[in-house]
Amino acid sequence: MTSPTHLSAWIALSEHRKEIDATSIQQIFSAQPDRITKCTAVAAGWTLDFSKHRASSKTFSLLTKLAKEASIESLREKMFRGDNINATENRSVLHTALRASHAKDSLLIDGNNVLAEVRSTLKQMEKFIWQLQSGQWRGYSNKKITDVVSIGIGGSYLGPKVVTEALKPYAQSTIRVHYIANIDGSDITEKLKKLDPETTLFIVSSKSFGTLETLYNANASREWFLRNGGPESSVHKHFAAVSSNVKKAVEFGIAEENIFPMWDWVGGRYSLWSAIGLPIAVAVGMENFRELLKGAHEMDSHFQTAPLEENLPVIMGTLGIWYSNFYGAQSHALIPYDHYLRALPAHIQQLDMESNGKANLQDGSATEIDTGPIIWGGAGTNGQHAYHQLLHQGTRLVPVDFIAPLTTHNPVNDHHTQLFANCVSQSQALMVGKTLSQAKEELKKSGASAEQIEKTAPHKVIQGNRPSNTLLTDKLTPFTVGSLIALYEHKTFVQGAIWGINSFDQWGVELGKELGTDIAERLASNSDNSALDPSTQNLIAAFKKAQS
Ligand code: F6P
Repeated sequence: MTSPTHLSAWIALSEHRKEIDATSIQQIFSAQPDRITKCTAVAAGWTLDFSKHRASSKTFSLLTKLAKEASIESLREKMFRGDNINATENRSVLHTALRASHAKDSLLIDGNNVLAEVRSTLKQMEKFIWQLQSGQWRGYSNKKITDVVSIGIGGSYLGPKVVTEALKPYAQSTIRVHYIANIDGSDITEKLKKLDPETTLFIVSSKSFGTLETLYNANASREWFLRNGGPESSVHKHFAAVSSNVKKAVEFGIAEENIFPMWDWVGGRYSLWSAIGLPIAVAVGMENFRELLKGAHEMDSHFQTAPLEENLPVIMGTLGIWYSNFYGAQSHALIPYDHYLRALPAHIQQLDMESNGKANLQDGSATEIDTGPIIWGGAGTNGQHAYHQLLHQGTRLVPVDFIAPLTTHNPVNDHHTQLFANCVSQSQALMVGKTLSQAKEELKKSGASAEQIEKTAPHKVIQGNRPSNTLLTDKLTPFTVGSLIALYEHKTFVQGAIWGINSFDQWGVELGKELGTDIAERLASNSDNSALDPSTQNLIAAFKKAQS
């Protein structure tokens, strides 16, 4: 894999930008009467309106050509069939297999049918959920479990937490689900305050069973359990695990039958579809969890089979490249107009930035172009009263994805109409903006003096011509939440593949971990720190002073 800059479509796009700069999104609309039909694509319960872009028909054909020339189709097939596309870790990338076991019989990797393993894990999960919900699973004092605490971090936390929140209207059991991730003692203290050790079950979610934060929180939870009356002999009734490191989980005190498997071929940030998603299933039941998988699978099928020009992940991925690499956009915002999706940007941020925050091509050489953008965002309408100012009038170009269900789970007066109106008007405002003469006219109508008009009008000008996607679904369901997240997974894949990077390793997080261990040792000892840089020495000294 080499840099895409030599591809003929890339070179053509560089030239083509001049044509697009000479026009505007609104002018492109006028020149293309059927634009809305041409720029609408549908898949797995979602409709993508990608008409509000600095892109003509020619732009879209060049972007499709770019995807083709970057061999998206063959790379996609390599991923789905389990080739070792995560070359730096020598692993397959098969999160798609986690949601295919209802649709296919087998997928052989090194002689193992991974779909059979997936099916048997789903059964194990099913049994566990049934035991909890039926009250068959009892704590050490024979009481039913009322609270499940998931302990994990990164991919072993964010995806499950975000989906649990997204599917709150589907909560089935009376069992409450909590998440602990941060090593900050305040996180665990606040969560455990409200819990009863007799009726609490912890799920330790860690693929490696070696992550510092998770081990600290798991140990602190066990200590809390024992300190508050739980007997050592009953630890197995209050702790389960999801891990590929069975040995370490057993050493911790978890009964082997309560350890759910994880596999090397699932990356952390792609793992909510595996038993890492167990807390989701506790909250919404196995049937809804299976629907989540079905939604993701349908998006997988769409990604695999739809023509590139109608393929949602390809359209969104290539448009992202258009803005990142040809317009210098540094970030990309996700703005869900739905309370239950308010945390989605955080999950997609982890997914995209841990995947595509890379500066080396697959062959190890340095990239000469920008790769993964900064992903950020939050719930509409809240953002309109905060950072949307920058979206409309700031100096930076920020492409936006607006995400909105057409119906609500919670009708209150006409709140949903107002919510949706705001979503639509934001994408409209970004595109149309406000000219100087419109601003002047507006001020004149409001009775402003000529002097006030001259002074104020420039501040009211909104450039417009700012791009956005709008993703609509009839209703937020387990199926549509599953397909939405899978859409972003594949968009991330498309971009990484075009940039020629490995989207599936995460070596960048390692140095911080190594240095963290070293600093922790220094904080706990009287080590000689004089070889460290002055700032680090000073920060260590400040901490030590505060503890003494
Ligand atoms: O530090 C990054 C990371 O390795 C993520 O990729 C992963 O999801 C997270 O840490 C947690 O890892 P584990 O599931 O092994 O505890």
